[in-house]
Amino acid sequence: MPSPAPTPPDRGLRRSGATLVTGAGGEVGHGLLGAMHAAGRRNIVAIDLRGFDEGQQALCRETIVGDICERPLLQRLQSMYEITEIYHLAALLSTRTEFTPEAGHEINVGGTLKLLHLAAAQARSHGKRVKFMFPSSIAVYGLSDLAAKERAGAVGEDEFTQPTTMYGCNKLYCEHLGRYYAHHYRQLVQDRMDHTVDFRGIRYPGLISAETLPSGGTSDYAAEMVHAAAEGKPYSCFVRPDTRIPFMTMPGAIEALLVLAATDEQRLSRCVYNVKSFSPSAAELADLVGEFFPGALITFEPDPQRQAIMDSWPLDVDDSAARADWGYQPRHDLRSAFKEYLVPGIKARYKTL
Ligand code: SER
Repeated sequence: MPSPAPTPPDRGLRRSGATLVTGAGGEVGHGLLGAMHAAGRRNIVAIDLRGFDEGQQALCRETIVGDICERPLLQRLQSMYEITEIYHLAALLSTRTEFTPEAGHEINVGGTLKLLHLAAAQARSHGKRVKFMFPSSIAVYGLSDLAAKERAGAVGEDEFTQPTTMYGCNKLYCEHLGRYYAHHYRQLVQDRMDHTVDFRGIRYPGLISAETLPSGGTSDYAAEMVHAAAEGKPYSCFVRPDTRIPFMTMPGAIEALLVLAATDEQRLSRCVYNVKSFSPSAAELADLVGEFFPGALITFEPDPQRQAIMDSWPLDVDDSAARADWGYQPRHDLRSAFKEYLVPGIKARYKTL
């Protein structure tokens, strides 16, 4: 009779393969974990400072409540997992960061630097490149005034990058850090391993989700006015009716991130890409909300400081590079975003709460 198979000697010593998602409890993280799980991915390790609900825990191999800036956490990840992809979503958004710019910098830049270092260390330890997906933002742009914003129209990735917010500065610098890690990291060192990090950034416009509400952003008014209407609450919008920047829905944003991640590297001509779906004014948004939620009460009481930030962001972005290189296509136009996604999703959300 054959004897039972011996326990493999390396049991417990091998690291498990993993995709790491930071800031996974946030708005983009919520949608991303669901989309990855739906695509059959079962090796997700998710981190968030704020914790996770049960639904999210069920989508992940491990959920870790912790701060990405903490060394012991990063060391544990390095010792436990063979990470091949990182989705680094953790960040403090533009409005919140203006109250504590140095803390914002620590999270947005310090956190990104640590994660890029982890990516490079991982690549060195398992010998494969680590893909690093980075959501950047329309906040990297800075137009000097409304006339300049009008004149600029749809801005390209390399134009008008003089952000006026700490968050915008952070995101822009992190794009440069990503490019540096991808192409020049430790360039003078003898035992340098080439191309350890495959950095890919996507500059999101304002995002609107039916499932979650944003917090601490300056483009939050769009989502806030739809959610308030669905709850039957009045909403006072903190920007002028004529305020215009591009937006996209959360499913569109997640799809774009996953398509960019899946694209053959040879097709990518840049490290960072603009994307957008539609570019409504705040008044146009309010009109649509009123059409789908008759009786919605939306007033405009602009906050001068937050208005100034919105006035510095472009009214449109040129996403032709994303379309040409990786076939980006907006998932929704403004009306279909409301009709097919936001209105049914938000109604369902508030009915079940
Ligand atoms: N939505 C973000 C903000 O308003 C911009 O990326 O801060």
